[in-house]
Amino acid sequence: MTTVGGIIRLLKRQVEIEKENVKQVSETEKKVDNAAAKMCLLEIRLDSQKHADMLNRILEVLGKTPSSKTLWEHRIGSYADPFVVKSQLEKHMKIEDQMISHIEEEIEQTKDEGLKLLLQHIADDERKHHKLLEEITKHLRKID
Ligand SMILES: [Fe+2]
Ligand SMILES: [Fe+2]
Repeated sequence: MTTVGGIIRLLKRQVEIEKENVKQVSETEKKVDNAAAKMCLLEIRLDSQKHADMLNRILEVLGKTPSSKTLWEHRIGSYADPFVVKSQLEKHMKIEDQMISHIEEEIEQTKDEGLKLLLQHIADDERKHHKLLEEITKHLRKID
């Protein structure tokens, strides 16, 4: 049986784990002097901070949402025009697309395998952002 209380408890615990990770990784960053390793740790720390922020935002929404409503359906303000939301998200999908082509050009321009790996990693992030925006836009279409 899943309950709203159960998921909220788990999410709160996850926020704590992410915050603890931010602390521990920043300690390790101070001890490591390899450029690639340091960058990887930087990303992990920023991702953990990002996850904690996102989870806190989710908790905020779940706290307000009547249990009959899903996260997809939740609106921050009743005044929001769904067409404006869609067109804004679509604008950002285009920007993510431009970022992907830009990074791909950079990857072609370098022979440094380490640099290629990190740029590829960023490109994968942009693809994930693009895909998430796409999914959310699809759901907005269904609701309205
Ligand atoms: Fe995380
Ligand atoms: Fe992005």
